Amino acid sequence: MQLEDKFGRRFYYLRLSITDVCNFKCEYCLPDGYESDGDRHFLTVPEIRQIAQSFSNLGTSKIRITGGEPSLRKDLPQIIETCANTPGIEHVAITTNGYKLPEHIDSWVDAGLNSMNVSIDSLDPRLFNSITGHDRLNVILKGIDRALALGIKVKVNAVLMRQFNHGELDNFLNWLKTTPVTLRMIELMQTGDNNAFFDKNHVSGEPIKQQLLESGWIPKIREKTAGPAQEFYHPDYKGSIGLIMPYSKDFCSSCNRLRITAKGKLHLCLFADQGLDIRHIIQQQDNELLENELVALLGDKEATHWLHDGITGATKHLAMLGG
Ligand code: 5AD
Ligand code: SF4
Repeated sequence: MQLEDKFGRRFYYLRLSITDVCNFKCEYCLPDGYESDGDRHFLTVPEIRQIAQSFSNLGTSKIRITGGEPSLRKDLPQIIETCANTPGIEHVAITTNGYKLPEHIDSWVDAGLNSMNVSIDSLDPRLFNSITGHDRLNVILKGIDRALALGIKVKVNAVLMRQFNHGELDNFLNWLKTTPVTLRMIELMQTGDNNAFFDKNHVSGEPIKQQLLESGWIPKIREKTAGPAQEFYHPDYKGSIGLIMPYSKDFCSSCNRLRITAKGKLHLCLFADQGLDIRHIIQQQDNELLENELVALLGDKEATHWLHDGITGATKHLAMLGG
């Protein structure tokens, strides 16, 4: 059995959220900070082991650990190790806001981490502070240097926002001359909670793409577990650059990922109408049972999101799902 939907898409890549708690207040995500719904009963390590095993048996080879902010869980190294030790899982990645990164990164890499995405929406420390509510840009940059020294791949996510970082492309490009990371510029996505912010701040990545092509950046070929970014490289730069344009035509046709929330719901799309509760099945610790359920539920995956019509599904903000 394989995870394949009725449009012929295969799902090599699982995004696993391990907590929805976050300590940052990114303007587009949690501008008022995290608010608990009272239930902090997140997936346990044995549950995560079961999920990793069943997905691997169904052909998944890459797991990304997300949040909220995953490093707020003390057992994160154990979770990384559990995923990395699952036969068939060849790549374990994490998405983090980088808070305390220099303190944590060695233990994550020791546990088997292969790559890391960190959000940096501005390289100007003051602007960074005003977007996230934390004056930590320099600590995060230090953590990235350490990660690179340890030999793992690093991607940096920057969400494009008209009022904040619209003029910062040159800053970022300068940084990429000497820093071997992939910077991904992400078009702001509308979620249930950020409508007004979205209207003020959404800008298309298309002009940036044209600008890159005109200044000698060359498109890369996409790998099968790759993210949705269109990536470019340039012989004069150590870093590369990618664009994530969820509003572009055919964005969904290369979808290769499924999501599980920190409380054990399967989301077939970032903007699905609802999560499908599979926690009781995960807890049975029965490979076949969970695998059959996953294959059956995948039958309902739709061809695309409905964001063009302003329909954001049940997704209030991406901290719910880890992006
Ligand atoms: N639109 C685009 N990107 C978002 N992220 C969070 N919320 C949004 C949004 N509404 C990004 C963060 C982080 C990743 C997990 O998702 O910047 O890098
Ligand atoms: Fe936290 Fe990530 Fe949301 Fe920022 S984007 S508030 S770091 S969950």
